[in-house]
Amino acid sequence: MSIHIQAEKGEIAPVVLLPGDPLRAKFVADTYLEEVLCYNRVRGMYGFTGIHQGVRVSVQGSGMGMPSMAIYVNELIQSYDVRCIIRIGSCGALQEEVEVHDLVFAMTASTDSVMNLERFPLGFTYSPAPTYTLLERAIQAAREEQLRYHVGSVLSTDSFYHDNSDLWKQWARFGTLAVEMETYQLYTLAAKFNIETLSILTVSDSLLTRKELNSEERQIGLQNMFDVVFSIIRS
Ligand code: HPA
Repeated sequence: MSIHIQAEKGEIAPVVLLPGDPLRAKFVADTYLEEVLCYNRVRGMYGFTGIHQGVRVSVQGSGMGMPSMAIYVNELIQSYDVRCIIRIGSCGALQEEVEVHDLVFAMTASTDSVMNLERFPLGFTYSPAPTYTLLERAIQAAREEQLRYHVGSVLSTDSFYHDNSDLWKQWARFGTLAVEMETYQLYTLAAKFNIETLSILTVSDSLLTRKELNSEERQIGLQNMFDVVFSIIRS
């Protein structure tokens, strides 16, 4: 057991899907996995392990934001020997061509978080990246399924609610596709521990148009993301 995950050693698969929402973890386990074991209920942050078409996979809620996510990622890697973590999350679009419902594969991330100041001195900026082969497989799956997708940078922010509500426009000017709250630190930790990673995001809202997915559209949007991630796992 680790502090925030009550699993025994061996109960978590080497490949973990990481939604922020623990109920999304339950939905994925209920919908896509067989022989499901719920290995974690601590703080309601559900974790499940099961079999998807012969492949053992776990799905773990991470909570919202980098501090929460980093707790689970650290423990998954250091206490349970996890070798691959794929985030399945949502994001807000910062570009006109990025529409609600689309998928975003994060090729890198910018951040307003100071978490990496502990690792890299002030004045130096670490640029995190995903595992190229996972990115390539995600693109291939999206192409085969004829899904709308975008590949590029995201902004991982510590605040959902900003005092300066126009701040995102500067990142938009520099080509950032979308805003979310986890990828920068996920990619940093994956690099630190030399494991594989990728963030696959569904656009749930647009900061330009103020459009939002309703609950029915959200289901369809998430379905596309799950199709891509399980295609990666099977390949
Ligand atoms: N901001 C931050 N994170 C998000 C957003 C947003 O607008 N939408 C989905 N995740």
